[in-house]
Amino acid sequence: MSVKILMVCLGNICRSPLAEGILASKLPQDKFTVDSAGTGSWHVGHSPDARSIAIAKKHELDISKQQGRQFETTDFDTFDYIYVMDKSNYNNVIHLAKNETQKAKVQIILNELYPNENVDVPDPYYGISNGFEMVYQMLDKACDSIAAKLKAKHR
Ligand code: 4NP
Repeated sequence: MSVKILMVCLGNICRSPLAEGILASKLPQDKFTVDSAGTGSWHVGHSPDARSIAIAKKHELDISKQQGRQFETTDFDTFDYIYVMDKSNYNNVIHLAKNETQKAKVQIILNELYPNENVDVPDPYYGISNGFEMVYQMLDKACDSIAAKLKAKHR
């Protein structure tokens, strides 16, 4: 049975689609499934933001086929690991959790690199011009660490 990892941000068009594509590229497909979702519903059914698609392409990843969806409470049962991009996503997702088992699945993704510091992956949607490259680099480092741990744990 495949180990399932969910990446969560607010819109599911900028950060979490990149996180999904990056982590999926670092894990064997036969053992791991990676998906993404947004806590908000504005972009359900939409492709990722053109700037996320472009940054991914620059790094030889195709995320253009992804479609936005909203986080739902059944995701707590479906997924083994839930990584959120920032503290606001964390609060939104934790609010929906029914018990401690569900809460324990949720981690702020950059705590992987900076334990317990609760550093945000900044939302690049309205942000600075190189925001998407910065987000890519942060997620790439975090996903290197996550992939190494998951491969060691689930062999
Ligand atoms: P994301 O960025 O959470 O990284 O996908 C956002 C994209 C769109 C919106 C918010 C965040 N929005 O409000 O439309």
